[in-house]
Amino acid sequence: MKIRKHSLLAAAMLGFVSLSPSSAQEADPKKVVDALQTVFGKHKARASGAKGQCVAGIFTPAANARNLTKSLAFRKQTPVIGRFSLGGGNPKAPDATKALVRGFSFKIDPEGDGTTEFVMVNAPVNFAKSLDQMFGFLEARFPGAEGKPDPEKIKAFAAANPETTRQGQWLASRQAPASYVGVNYWGIHGYTLTNAEGKTQLVKFKLVPTGGEAGLTDDEAKAKPVDFLVEELQERLTKKAQTSFDLVVVYGLPGDPTNDPTVMWNDEEKRPTVKLGTLTINRIEKNEVCDSGIFDPTNLAEGITGPKDDPMFIPRQQGYAISLQRRLAR
Ligand code: HEM
Repeated sequence: MKIRKHSLLAAAMLGFVSLSPSSAQEADPKKVVDALQTVFGKHKARASGAKGQCVAGIFTPAANARNLTKSLAFRKQTPVIGRFSLGGGNPKAPDATKALVRGFSFKIDPEGDGTTEFVMVNAPVNFAKSLDQMFGFLEARFPGAEGKPDPEKIKAFAAANPETTRQGQWLASRQAPASYVGVNYWGIHGYTLTNAEGKTQLVKFKLVPTGGEAGLTDDEAKAKPVDFLVEELQERLTKKAQTSFDLVVVYGLPGDPTNDPTVMWNDEEKRPTVKLGTLTINRIEKNEVCDSGIFDPTNLAEGITGPKDDPMFIPRQQGYAISLQRRLAR
């Protein structure tokens, strides 16, 4: 028995086996998807952003976009396929839940040469800076013997990882969105744009609703039907009301970090923005159109590159693909 324990320990030190299936092992995308499903259960839906609505629209680039990037995504007017969502893996989450991030994923030029995909949320920061921290955040919320998470574990994790509370604080200090198209969305990661002359610029992407932000007081939120957001969007479309966003970039400065998606750059909100184009939603699309694949934030047309040193960027592709495989198999 003793010998076996020692040989296991030696194997673990060499990296062949793991003695603990949970926190001692470095997290990978599969482990994070497993953790999402431990927290939220297994549904025939996305492991995160489970509740949502597919939409279709059009992207019209601003004339000066090509000064910043040679990307074909910003060269001409192109169709857009998008999906609005509520954060987390509960496909029945009430739409007015303030604590959940709203997501907006979209593909510019889905069938063309300029295919470029973004998966944004309505906060400028993420709730974890690494897969290990994302796993730890979820592990602290695993249901215990009574089927519920232990509030003490959540508190202890937050105290030891204060940066994981920033996204929640951002959402708590604002009203719940009254509309999927009435809130800002951020790309969060630092991207590099390259123009035809080879000039590069560090940026962060943001979507700003052209009709302004629309929020709900806590009382209004309480009175809203569980699934009001799709109806609200349909009403806007029927009335030909505002359903557009400006796609803008915030310029990075030398020394701005790109390796930690839980931090904003200094004075990021006060920096001027440059408009790259306008994204207009023009119809609700069948959910099957969005559900048969993933929105892959690493799929970017030449002239836009994601951060090389952000541990949360590249693994998104694998995490989303694992979730797709599981939801299609269910
Ligand atoms: C800045 C970091 C991140 C942000 C802002 C973010 C945001 C989102 C959003 C908005 C969705 C919904 C996508 C849709 O509508 O199709 C989503 C889905 C998902 N996210 Fe993330 N995410 C981040 C990082 C990660 C990472 C690092 C993982 C784990 C590897 C992960 C795991 C997932 C999974 C499994 C899904 C479901 C994908 C699918 O089934 O298509 N996310 N995320």
